[in-house]
Amino acid sequence: MADQDARSGEDKRPTEIPVLRWEEPPEGPVLVLLDQTRLPTEEVELVCTDPAGLVEAIRSLAVRGAPLLGVAGAYGVALAAVRGFEVEEAAAALAGARPTAVNLAVGVRRAQAAHQEALARTGDAGQAASAALAAARAVHEEDARASARMAAHGLALLDELLPAGGHRVLTHCNSGSLVSGGEGTAFAVALAAHREGRLRRLWVDETRPLLQGARLTAYEAARNDMAYTLLTDSAAGSLFAAGEVDAVLVGADRIAADGSVANKVGSYPLAVLARYHHVPFIVVAPVTTVDPHTPDGASIEVEQRPGYEVTEVTAPQVAGAGGGIPVAPLGTQAYNPAFDVTPPELVTAIVTEEGVVSPVTSEALAELCARSRQV
Ligand code: MRU
Repeated sequence: MADQDARSGEDKRPTEIPVLRWEEPPEGPVLVLLDQTRLPTEEVELVCTDPAGLVEAIRSLAVRGAPLLGVAGAYGVALAAVRGFEVEEAAAALAGARPTAVNLAVGVRRAQAAHQEALARTGDAGQAASAALAAARAVHEEDARASARMAAHGLALLDELLPAGGHRVLTHCNSGSLVSGGEGTAFAVALAAHREGRLRRLWVDETRPLLQGARLTAYEAARNDMAYTLLTDSAAGSLFAAGEVDAVLVGADRIAADGSVANKVGSYPLAVLARYHHVPFIVVAPVTTVDPHTPDGASIEVEQRPGYEVTEVTAPQVAGAGGGIPVAPLGTQAYNPAFDVTPPELVTAIVTEEGVVSPVTSEALAELCARSRQV
């Protein structure tokens, strides 16, 4: 079950956004989420008291973005264990709630493995639940640390590729504090550039159909006093043609072993545009987004979302309820993949917390994964 509470209306600056937290009120532990379907107009919390409520929050995109899905999934397993639900069943439902972002399954598996190990060792359900919670907290903290390191590596790369400075960066979807235990992935790099006085402009794609760019990235950019401009996705071409883009920075939901990158639909067209206009296309993601078990782009399962997200607009539609304002004739069929796949040859670099991979090759990615397992 999930309850919603309006938060108090005071100004939420500075920039840290309390996007997800574990709480232990007398009624029992809960996972509290900032309901991202309600942003930017309302900051409303969603209280998950059971795994089914969290699965629904994931499907409706109340909680979203690859790294945060990993964190939420891990806490979901802990919630199931602490509240006495069947843990294996809950873990399967959580991991399967959305198929593309591999971080979700990785986070779930980590808490599940900790639970299984502690249960086998102690035979005690309470200790096993504590182990699952400790694993979830570790996933959360590691994500915050990874965020800071990606920002540092990404800014160094930007400065190297664009020595003239005054970076004008185009981004797609949302990849900031709202997707992370820290400041995010691609957005965190732009934010680091802003803090160093080296970001001239952040171009924000609105990101149809669910408007993660307009609703969420613009919200984060405004809170951070960044110089940003919103554009429709289809305006990106003329922006490149006008010479207004120095680099593209995007996150990733899954990176296959060959370096193919699944990210929010609309990323691949940007990579094509970037190549045509000789602009670097940079992907920023934690190592957990690299999936050595997915050999190539064609093997990535791309989530297909309901057609009404395209044929209707308004907030309830964003919340997954349908019932928005129709913008197409009744009965219109819609093609609505949530993600697309960019081939490695169009990716200038992949920035991770362990360093930068460029050029993007399967050998370099395998080496990165091996190195990160040793840390
Ligand atoms: O469908 P969403 O909003 O979960 O999609 C999110 C994205 O595509 C992000 O760009 C991606 O998760 C990388 S952000 C770190």
